[in-house]
Amino acid sequence: MSHAEDTGSRRDFLYFATASTAAVATGAAVWPLVNQMNPSADVQALASIDVPIDGVEPGTQVTVKWLGKPVFIRRRTQAEIDEARAVTMDELPDATSQNNNVALDKDASDQNRTLDEAGEWLVMVGVCTHLGCVPLGDGAGEFGGWFCPCHGSHYDTAGRIRKGPAPLNLLVPVAEFTSETVIKLG
Ligand code: FES
Repeated sequence: MSHAEDTGSRRDFLYFATASTAAVATGAAVWPLVNQMNPSADVQALASIDVPIDGVEPGTQVTVKWLGKPVFIRRRTQAEIDEARAVTMDELPDATSQNNNVALDKDASDQNRTLDEAGEWLVMVGVCTHLGCVPLGDGAGEFGGWFCPCHGSHYDTAGRIRKGPAPLNLLVPVAEFTSETVIKLG
């Protein structure tokens, strides 16, 4: 590097260093406000997402990633709904709703598991309650819902554990319709 270039780059460096010192000094006054706003904006972006569901046909599901976990959003057929609603609580290893949208002491009836009253929409965290594998869906397993091949847990069409080592029903996360075609998670 020549002497001229060296001088030039050092001068540039000093200029930028001075400029950034000024920026830091100016920025200091607004930092507390920005500092308070940034984390909440980040957390909000992670804690809540909108999922368009207008392309989801009955009998199919979409899986979205939310808070680092898969979430199953299934649009059930009438046959799946009927099957789930015919089940009585004494058939269930876990007779609690496991639904973050209803009171904790509610039972695991199908009506307490689904997002809408008709029972068409079922939203669940796709993590097996045994040791955390992601269950297979689309009618898998002996109860026509989901099946976790890791150690053989069978979930029914409402995502309730029916057979195998998993102790709890698949968790229903906080979710709501924000329009006819969008479900908000979180
Ligand atoms: S992790 Fe699903 S059965 Fe063990």
